[in-house]
Amino acid sequence: MTDPLFAVDGKTALVTGGTSGIGLMIARGLVRRGVKTYITGRDATRTGELAEKISADEGGVCIGLGTDLSEGDGPENLAGDLARRETSLHILVNNAGAGETASLPDVSVEAWDTVMNVNLRAPFFLVQNLLPLLETGASAADPARVINLGSIGGLHIPNWDAFPYGASKAGVHHLTRALTKRLGGKKITVNAIAPGPFPSRLTDTGSDAVKKSVETYVPLGRPGEPDDIEGLVVFLSSRAGAYVNGCTIPLDGGYIAAL
Ligand SMILES: NC(=O)c1ccc[n+]([C@@H]2O[C@H](COP(=O)([O-])OP(=O)(O)OC[C@H]3O[C@@H](n4cnc5c(N)ncnc54)[C@H](OP(=O)(O)O)[C@@H]3O)[C@@H](O)[C@H]2O)c1
Repeated sequence: MTDPLFAVDGKTALVTGGTSGIGLMIARGLVRRGVKTYITGRDATRTGELAEKISADEGGVCIGLGTDLSEGDGPENLAGDLARRETSLHILVNNAGAGETASLPDVSVEAWDTVMNVNLRAPFFLVQNLLPLLETGASAADPARVINLGSIGGLHIPNWDAFPYGASKAGVHHLTRALTKRLGGKKITVNAIAPGPFPSRLTDTGSDAVKKSVETYVPLGRPGEPDDIEGLVVFLSSRAGAYVNGCTIPLDGGYIAAL
């Protein structure tokens, strides 16, 4: 039996980039706990098939939507797609992300734009376009939640080059606070999670470089696991997390604290 303080069942969520890595972990965790969960990826067919699999695996409802969030009208199109299916949204997880690790002379304008568009522009314009649905899903007792995926890469300067990535994630942390100020009156909370290394397509936790970084910098000595991210998202989305607002929470086994 779920403790009502941590219950999230009956809610509706949108998890962008729910097809892989951290977004997939979050989506599975929400579906398992009775949240009707929309996931997005660039390929509509593949995303739809994965959503069906998640529904079957987790015994809940997951729906896949296709969208490219690097494109100018991507966020607006996605919001329109959702608005044709739902009248309210309780949890928006801005998770879709793109990385870039070129050295300073090699960063292209195209790569810069893709990273900024997916990581920073899309979260803002999704909030803007989904505001009517979030407001319908919000109440004083149970605010709607916006959860942005930032990164420890936006909290410190790593030893490797990640110019647009780090800048985009620092921007996400700032945007989180700016939105908090505007959306509190609408009973919508906005928080960011800044993960350390989690297994995903962006971060190969099996590679020697990431293993060494985890050994050196993560006091707990291991990468993040699905329960770690699920636990924090469920906490933020439940009654237990309703008064947490405007925070960027490092989820990194102590990486940032110990620098
Ligand atoms: N894993 C880590 O160690 C780590 C650490 C700190 C922060 N983060 C953050 O956590 C979030 C998830 O990252 P991840 O590591 O789980 O990465 P991942 O496994 O590469 O997943 C990225 C997700 O974003 C989607 N995506 C990428 N480009 C897109 C685009 N142009 N339009 C729409 N969707 C797009 C992908 O969907 P499709 O490929 O299906 O289109 C995929 O679902 C990101 O914001 C990332 O910056 C991750």
